[in-house]
Amino acid sequence: MQPADYEAWYHTPRGEWIGTTEFSLLCNLLQANTADSLLDVGCGTGYFTRHFAQQGLHVSAIDPDTAMLAYAKTLSADIAYLQGSALSLPFADQQFDHVSAITSLCFIADPQQALHEMWRVCRKTVVLGLLNRHSLLFLQKNNRGAYRGARWDAAADAQNWTKQLVPPVASVAIRSAIVMPGGNAIARGIESLWPSWLPLGGFLAVMMRKSAE
Ligand SMILES: C[S@@+](CC[C@H](N)C(=O)[O-])C[C@H]1O[C@@H](n2cnc3c(N)ncnc32)[C@H](O)[C@@H]1O
Repeated sequence: MQPADYEAWYHTPRGEWIGTTEFSLLCNLLQANTADSLLDVGCGTGYFTRHFAQQGLHVSAIDPDTAMLAYAKTLSADIAYLQGSALSLPFADQQFDHVSAITSLCFIADPQQALHEMWRVCRKTVVLGLLNRHSLLFLQKNNRGAYRGARWDAAADAQNWTKQLVPPVASVAIRSAIVMPGGNAIARGIESLWPSWLPLGGFLAVMMRKSAE
């Protein structure tokens, strides 16, 4: 998909609802302080990267796709965008307070290695946005459009990845959103009442904290 088309989807009524709902869920889990640093892995056109920056975080971002990065740079000159892969992050241990990877791990064949790298460069928290195979979105979108080639995970997969991390994860929280992916008024009403701890939404948010601080 062309970067401009990818970004334009976030500005459709449905895309805007999905993007803001997902971002709000991620922020609730992350609980970042203003001026914390964050690395956004697999940033694409930088939709979430820019939202994190607007929250006052010091944001850097990385993606292997040069076209996505070039487009992202046109939308924000203030963010440090770098080309590279999650599988080998060109950063020091604990360089960032937080690391996010939003619907990017699902395009990486070795999620454990990518997560190992994110855990290495983070000081406090890693937050993931995953595509949930136990969801209506999976039934509707599996292998279509921007989801083509993506792996659809489940909460249990994420739990298993976290168990392999060193140092061990101090706490994990898994939430979900986008229960009825159509985004009409009924879907939005149900979403507002739906308990996010039920892992049945199309978007799974996984938060891993390094210590209880
Ligand atoms: C669906 S897009 C998500 C972009 C953005 N995070 C968002 O949610 O709008 C998936 C992104 O993962 C990136 N990606 C694929 N393989 C990657 C890898 N090995 N390391 C980091 N990012 C990768 C792609 O280039 C693409 O920009």
